[in-house]
Amino acid sequence: MKVTHILLIASCVLLSNTNHINLTSAVPDIDTLKGPTASTPVPANNNGTVTDPASTTFGTGTSSRLALYVPGNVYKDYPGWLPLYKALVFQGIPVTVTKDINVAKSHDTVLAYQAFQSKYLGFFDSLTWSGYVTGGNTLISIGMTSKDLFLRMAFGVGIDTNTANAKYREAIVLQKGQSPNSQFDFTDVRDTEIPLYREVADEGFPSIGYTLDWGTNSLGAYRDDEKNLDGKHGITYRSNVFGGRAVAIGIDLGAYIGEANGGKTRGIPRSYVAQYEPGYDNFLRIIKNLYTTSTSAGLVTSWPVPGNKGVHFSWTYDIDAQDSYELAYEVAKDLQSRGIGGTINWQAKLVKDAYDVASFSHYYRNISAVEALGNMELASHSISHSPNLLAFPVGTGKEIWDGSTYDETNYFPFVGQCTNETGVWKTNIPGATTCETPNDR
Ligand SMILES: *[C@@H]1O[C@H](CO)[C@@H](O)[C@H](O)[C@H]1NC(C)=O
Ligand SMILES: *[C@@H]1O[C@H](CO)[C@@H](O)[C@H](O)[C@H]1NC(C)=O
Ligand SMILES: *[C@@H]1O[C@H](CO)[C@@H](O)[C@H](O)[C@H]1NC(C)=O
Ligand SMILES: *[C@@H]1O[C@H](CO)[C@@H](O)[C@H](O)[C@H]1NC(C)=O
Repeated sequence: MKVTHILLIASCVLLSNTNHINLTSAVPDIDTLKGPTASTPVPANNNGTVTDPASTTFGTGTSSRLALYVPGNVYKDYPGWLPLYKALVFQGIPVTVTKDINVAKSHDTVLAYQAFQSKYLGFFDSLTWSGYVTGGNTLISIGMTSKDLFLRMAFGVGIDTNTANAKYREAIVLQKGQSPNSQFDFTDVRDTEIPLYREVADEGFPSIGYTLDWGTNSLGAYRDDEKNLDGKHGITYRSNVFGGRAVAIGIDLGAYIGEANGGKTRGIPRSYVAQYEPGYDNFLRIIKNLYTTSTSAGLVTSWPVPGNKGVHFSWTYDIDAQDSYELAYEVAKDLQSRGIGGTINWQAKLVKDAYDVASFSHYYRNISAVEALGNMELASHSISHSPNLLAFPVGTGKEIWDGSTYDETNYFPFVGQCTNETGVWKTNIPGATTCETPNDR
């Protein structure tokens, strides 16, 4: 707490030489900031009988989750799996992320992210997945380019798939009457077209256009920049004779969602930051529909508190720039109305950048307003980016940023598995004991 304020004041002094900001009016509120006097309560443990939620309500246990399959190096090559995962979870879909084909195929619904490109897919894996579909399961692929016959038969797509820059395939036009369970109402153009076009010519998404074969339906066809359907399909749907289903999505949905969430859409949909974006949601609605209508014996909903612990809810909010300053107040107010406290990781401006003027001339008011609500602890922004965030002790005030292990080239989202392995990060990150990290492999 204290350290944050000192940094903030120090940075004001540094900037006072620039003459860009009226610091006289900007500074005063800083001095009145103070955190809660008591430390954050440690979550209570209940020493009662431990029950296994998977065995009490649902016979199928956790295998009825949706498995997000990111084998081999996919998770490093395509970090878009992470925003995709988050988007699915925010839709209320319980998701297991796995690199392991045996774990993945034990689930009734699998979303294979970039996994069905030839470079990641062995012959026997193709057989496994085509058998998975004919065995009555639901398989959704994102970015399939494999020409493997078995896999193409499972998805019902011809061999002449082709890849193009999404700048030229301007939109995916959803096909009326062919979507599972009529999930589109088709009353608004925003519900029927998923825009892909970007203004930066060379940076359009690669999109994969599929041809239909084996009686496959089209859920969405590509439209080119002349507003003509280009004969290729961006979302295909095949209902297998044995009751399984296979859906191929022809754009990198993870990257698409990541761009939309980052407000860096440059002409793809509108901005998704604090706004509704129907194009983006249509993809997720298709996936959710497939998941909830899967042949699973029962859907497992989340049971977030292991071992019968008392429920402890805490919210951390990372402030970076612009909207996040002002929305911090909305979040804190909403949490307060629900009796919830949390932590706001407030950014102390130490450098001159695109946001410093706004930070000192306007947005300091927002943190004062948050502070006045009284339910949020204030902390330093940098801990939000710490690789050892998980290992921070709760409420002791000893949360520290361990800069010594930070390496820009190793900063990417990764699939971690808590196994008993050794590795560089294991020994360098204080408190990290058994979790696999990027440097392990
Ligand atoms: C700076 O803010 C103070 C307090 O609001 C005000 O009196 C003063 O006129 C401002 N100075 C400039 C240069 O805007
Ligand atoms: C369970 O109760 C015992 C005895 O009160 C206590 O020592 C122990 O710390 C408790 N366990 C947990 C996990 O809270
Ligand atoms: C946040 O700061 C902006 C810019 O000064 C201001 O317009 C807005 O009213 C503030 N909102 C709150 C809740 O403090
Ligand atoms: C990790 O493996 C070592 C060696 O097999 C074993 O002694 C240790 O108990 C294991 N630790 C955990 C947390 O499983």
